[in-house]
Amino acid sequence: MRHFLDIADWQANEISQLLTNAQRLKAELKKNGTNDPVLKGKTLAMVFEKPSLRTRASFDVGMQQLGGFSVYLGPSEIGFNKRESVADIARVLSGYADVVMARVFQHKHLKQLAQYASVPVINGLSDESHPCQALADALTIVETFGRMDGLKVAYVGDGNNVAASLMMICAKLGARFAIASPNRYTLAEAAFQKAVQNMTVPVPIESFSTAEKAVANADVVYTDTWVSMGQEAERDEKIRHFVHFQVTAQLMSLAKPNAIFMHCLPAHRGEEVTDEVADGKQSAIFRQAENRLHAQKALLIRLLKQ
Ligand code: CP
Ligand code: NVA
Repeated sequence: MRHFLDIADWQANEISQLLTNAQRLKAELKKNGTNDPVLKGKTLAMVFEKPSLRTRASFDVGMQQLGGFSVYLGPSEIGFNKRESVADIARVLSGYADVVMARVFQHKHLKQLAQYASVPVINGLSDESHPCQALADALTIVETFGRMDGLKVAYVGDGNNVAASLMMICAKLGARFAIASPNRYTLAEAAFQKAVQNMTVPVPIESFSTAEKAVANADVVYTDTWVSMGQEAERDEKIRHFVHFQVTAQLMSLAKPNAIFMHCLPAHRGEEVTDEVADGKQSAIFRQAENRLHAQKALLIRLLKQ
């Protein structure tokens, strides 16, 4: 039985297969208005310790389009190690559901869920990573350019969960990755090392302290919020450090002319990105959000049918 806790746990060819299947499911849905109900009778339990629009809606709709069901459990229903232990939550949910997706504060709780569950566990975002987002990101890039390998992906902003998973999928699929962050907010050294260890072919991973250097000649310019969920108390302090890391039209002009702008959303317009870029011709953000649906359907089928 497989879990989907981190991109690093999956081989490059398995990820490529998921992307191929996601493209097929997307084309099938666009053509017929439906997908084959291959998950008929299957149930997904969705556990959220934090808010969500895309993750909740795309998993819920995705299960329904494949003939299955989902059950939503929000922060007031489940308290990890507060109302009951993570191990007991895992054992109980395994009795009701065929697959569990969880959005948690602490990545170690996902590992515990996977350890004690007898069904697959999917990471719907943790403090360390956001692999479902990275899958949809790779799908968006492959749709746009026909490939990931040989491209340059520039990430401007906080060295957070989204950045870590994006870097990892770039390493797996052969894209060059450049990150620009204020020094104290770049990715952890261990994350860089893990990405290097997971490279399928050697590709540069670069870290810069100015956005301009990272974005130069990039095919993809990516950003995320400067203040992640749970960091609200640090907001004023963080924003001060990030003022020179906003993605503007001027910054985009340093990337390749056909570069796309990406953001996992929710966007804090006027902070990490301007409206001009988010709504501009190069922006892929809403196709990227839609691709959560298609990528996760491929993942659900892989976890439940093979
Ligand atoms: N990108 C993303 O995971 O969005 P939500 O937080 O709305 O699920
Ligand atoms: N880095 C953000 C991503 C939200 C989808 C967070 O963790 O809040």
